[in-house]
Formats: sequence, structure tokens, C-alpha cells
Amino acid sequence: VASSWRLSQLEHLFCDRAAFGARLADGDEVVYRVEDVDGPGRDAQLGRAVTTIEPGDVGGEFFMTRGHMHAVRRDEVYVGLSGEGVVLMTDGERGAAQELSAGASVHIPAGWAHRTVNVGATRLRFLAVYHRDAGADYEWVRRRGMGAVVVADGETYRIDASRKTAA
Ligand code: F6R
Ligand code: ZN
Repeated sequence: VASSWRLSQLEHLFCDRAAFGARLADGDEVVYRVEDVDGPGRDAQLGRAVTTIEPGDVGGEFFMTRGHMHAVRRDEVYVGLSGEGVVLMTDGERGAAQELSAGASVHIPAGWAHRTVNVGATRLRFLAVYHRDAGADYEWVRRRGMGAVVVADGETYRIDASRKTAA
């Protein structure tokens, strides 16, 4: 099973309305897609999914996933496959950010919402290993935001924790 998310479906992720409109006028491109990796175990407790985030930004805010909290508070592991990314995490009070690159892994503790941001010039691909009973609560992130945004800063990136509005 695969799902893909286009720019027009992700307007709420970006702070800069004018920059969003300008980028969308250039075309409703796919920002990211998620493919489940199937195995023989119908009742498997662990699921796998590969996410591909295209390179790009809206007024300096890099392309990112919607972000979610697991409805059942389970932990998860991401393994970087290619590209350069940052995983933003928050438990609603504290925030954390970890880099994701090929061969690196990130552990997302239970009870921490997570969003992945492509901070590089190439596609970011990573494998997620998750509990299949965890579910995903997107409203949690829409209401509270992630506590920070990841913005371009010259050739690199900066985590701006003063812009808490982007959900
Ligand atoms: C599963 C997981 C990833 C994300 C994927 C897309 O628990 O964290 O497979 O689902 O990277 O991000 P969202 O789901 O936030 O659109
Ligand atoms: Zn998750």
C-alpha cells in the first residue's frame, strides 16, 4: 500500500502563506510518499514503511511530513536510507531534534510526536519500524504544532523554536 501527499494537501504545515501560494502556482507537486513493506506475517506486531520526502522548501521551510502522535503510545525506530533529514519530536512540553542520514537511526520514544524534515538537496528516504497497533493521531500535532520549525540557513539548516505556530 502506498500513499502520497501533494503540496495542496499540506498547506497547514507551512507558516508563510505568500510563499506557499507562489510555490503551488508552479505546480501541485508530490512532497512525500509512504510505502508499506509487506511480509508474510498477517498478524505481525511490527510493520515497516519507507518514506520518501522530495527536496524543496516553502519560503525557507523545508518539505516535511504531517507528523503524528501514536494513538496508542508506542515507540518506533527510523533508519536512514539516503539523503539528509531531521526528525523533530515533542511530548507536548519538551522538544528534541535528531539528524537522519544513510546508515543512521533515530529512536522515537513512546509518547513523543514526530515529524521528519528533508534538509538536503536530494530525496530523503528512511525506513520506519513501528508497532502496527499504534495508530496515528494527526490531530494531536495539528492542535499543538511541533514546537519548532526547520528552516534553511545558507547551505545548512536552523531549528527555530520561536515559531511554534506551524502545526
Ligand atoms: C509510522 C511513521 C512513518 C510516517 C511517515 C509519514 O509510525 O512514523 O512511517 O507515517 O514518515 O509521516 P506522517 O504519517 O506523519 O504523514
Ligand atoms: Zn510514527
